[in-house]
Amino acid sequence: MNSQSHETDRNSVPAHVAIIMDGNGRWAQARGLDRSEGHVEGVNTVRKITEEASELGIKYLTLYAFSTENWNRPQQEVDMLMHLIGIAIERETPDLIKNNVRLTMIGDVERMPAEALERLRGCISRTAHCTGLTLNLALSYSSRWEITDAVRHIAADVAAGRLKELDIDENIVSAYMATKDMPDPDLLIRTGGDMRVSNFLLWQIAYAELYFTQTHWPDFSKEDFRNAVAQFKGRERRFGLTGEQIKASQTPKKTV
Ligand code: FPP
Repeated sequence: MNSQSHETDRNSVPAHVAIIMDGNGRWAQARGLDRSEGHVEGVNTVRKITEEASELGIKYLTLYAFSTENWNRPQQEVDMLMHLIGIAIERETPDLIKNNVRLTMIGDVERMPAEALERLRGCISRTAHCTGLTLNLALSYSSRWEITDAVRHIAADVAAGRLKELDIDENIVSAYMATKDMPDPDLLIRTGGDMRVSNFLLWQIAYAELYFTQTHWPDFSKEDFRNAVAQFKGRERRFGLTGEQIKASQTPKKTV
């Protein structure tokens, strides 16, 4: 599933959009509110953007909801976020089902509090039959954690004789990633003004188009999302080839 598709149709909607949802704290602080208010408002944006992604026909939406590094935030904020994520997911489950949205998650989730994890797993099983958008939450996730975990499993499989060292190629490595059942992201969006990728899907974004916006996540609207997708559609993706090669591959072949 992860092999590069070389999809170059400029008019196609991205199959997979990944988002670094940043700026909740600054959004709240600029309004004299507690940072937690920014996260609460951020959940509303999650709902809006999920609806819009579904509407646009995007198949996978991966949201960076909590990074491995976020465990180092003040305990009160960590507890609040874990509670908020669990509550929001449970509350939204009926709407996810109605909209044919399937929930999945990636990350070192065993580190999460039992209550939040139980709510997430409940939603995952209740939406498992949905065939529209896959909403994939990155929770307790970091790319270096994921790659390290993959290397450990590859080493174990080689040692046990289940995998031959010389058979390891890019597709095999992808198959050991948490995202093994999804295509690589075509578009990575980061809100909040910073221009970095913060340990997010480093293996998978090798050919993703990057889109950075100053807008803080709570203010990121459906229209902002549509604009990001529209900009993506206008970009020429060359995957290391020349522009001429791309054009030639798009010329319809004559039938005889
Ligand atoms: C970054 O903003 C945001 C987070 C660390 C948490 C994002 C989580 C949510 C929006 C809730 C997700 C909920 C569901 C149901 C998926 P920040 O706090 O780093 O903002 P700052 O950079 O302005 O301080």
